Amino acid sequence: QEDQFKKVISHAKEYGFIFQSSEIYDGLSAVYDYGQNGTELKKNIRNYWWKAMVQLNDNIVGIDAAIFMHPTTWKASGHVDAFNDPLIDNKDSKKRYRADVLIEDHVAKIEGKIEKEVKKAAKRFGEAFDKQQFLETNPRVVKYQEDAQAILKRMGKSLEEENLADVKALIEELEITCPVSGSRNWTDVKQFNLMFGTQIGASADSSTQVYLRPETAQGIFVNFLNVQKTGRMKIPFGIAQTGKAFRNEIVARQFIFRQREFEQMEMQFFVQPGSQKKWYEEWKEKRMLWHLSLGMGEDNYRFHDHEKLAHYADAAADIEFRFPFGFKELEGIHSRTDFDLSSHEEYSGKKLQYFDPESKESYVPYVVETSIGLDRMFLAVFSNSLQEEELEEGNSRTVLRLPAVLAPFKVAILPLLKRDGLPELAKEIVDDLKWDMAVTYDEKDAVGRRYRRQDANGTPFCITVDHQSLEDKTVTIRHRDSMKQERVALSDIKAIILQEVAV
Ligand code: GAP
Repeated sequence: QEDQFKKVISHAKEYGFIFQSSEIYDGLSAVYDYGQNGTELKKNIRNYWWKAMVQLNDNIVGIDAAIFMHPTTWKASGHVDAFNDPLIDNKDSKKRYRADVLIEDHVAKIEGKIEKEVKKAAKRFGEAFDKQQFLETNPRVVKYQEDAQAILKRMGKSLEEENLADVKALIEELEITCPVSGSRNWTDVKQFNLMFGTQIGASADSSTQVYLRPETAQGIFVNFLNVQKTGRMKIPFGIAQTGKAFRNEIVARQFIFRQREFEQMEMQFFVQPGSQKKWYEEWKEKRMLWHLSLGMGEDNYRFHDHEKLAHYADAAADIEFRFPFGFKELEGIHSRTDFDLSSHEEYSGKKLQYFDPESKESYVPYVVETSIGLDRMFLAVFSNSLQEEELEEGNSRTVLRLPAVLAPFKVAILPLLKRDGLPELAKEIVDDLKWDMAVTYDEKDAVGRRYRRQDANGTPFCITVDHQSLEDKTVTIRHRDSMKQERVALSDIKAIILQEVAV
């Protein structure tokens, strides 16, 4: 698993997907830049989300709010007082950890043990193996599951009650029974606010303390009435947004999974009070279907219903994905009640109510939100797609089996030789296709090597132009996943490719 994660990171760099930020200065911790291929993949994921959320739902509209917001926003939202992480320092290594993440790492270790047992048993029993039954009846596995649940429950409870001494005690116990950090000498747990602050204005006296937004959601809440009135929206309706968010995370070696600067794709759905449960269930299901539509394997997703709820929620669940380092949160679905809108009413002194034209009553709507990290989705797609494939005669290839709809380039046009008019015809094809899809052109090296390069970039199709093409206007189309090649008429290639890559 660790090896696979290392491969993901180095492949992302080698093929122009992700670079460390300010690499020539040795980088900046937990900050990354997207390269030429990564930017395309990220844009395609964003568009795939936007299409599913905004374009396909006639009651959801999109906005683009500023990153800077009036500072009172963050007082009202609870972030100034409650957006904290519990931190703990190790006195021996002088390393700082997020206490809850450290505990989750212990749990992941236990889950790793369960997976090992499952694999062993599957091998032993062969076809007759019933995983579900094994999970429910094998005494050792049942005990592991109980341990993991008990740890999470104890952590949730003590964080909720702000009983940080118990969080420390839990870490000390776990480091003995199932070591993760290898150290035993801990400080007390302290709360640390995650917001980045800065000043607006030139002089010290006139400047105002502001924050870089830690979530995009608040830009939607403060614009709720603007959008509802100007868009003549009727409840239930949603407002969607994608954009940067910033958190002063304490992290180590998680690549783009947890960053200090990242992008969120959020949708706030405004509903009648009392109907939130129904909408919460509906959005949980819809979001899971969105993930499954990409065909990355049902087994790689699971729900995790929260027992410990954030200060604003009456129900919350994560969609977890099987990353190279185990199942982790990819998306959150939260029933946020009327917490945010009511709080903004209180702090701003302005009404944020919906007038129901049928009942002729005004009320503060309840909100169900779906919130996914774009970078985290990128990591899910990228790590799941990267495969080392054994071929005939002891050969192998590295292939990035990205869902075609998300691939940075849909097709590569390759003239077989750099002469005899082949590049000219190939460029004509590029010029014809580029209005409808992202096309790349490559004439360097033997064609076999060019195929491998496109496999590693995740390009689903290659078109090779050869001498026969000049005569009969046919080309070879090669499919990334099957490596099958077929001869097709030039006039058909656009339709063939669009059929696979269109959203
Ligand atoms: N508005 C609700 C909200 O922000 P969250 O659970 O704090 O909820 C939502 O964040 C999603 O944003 C997460 O599921 C994750 O995908 C992404 N996310 C949060 N913090 C992140 C970070 N530091 N780096 C990358 N993605 C992050």
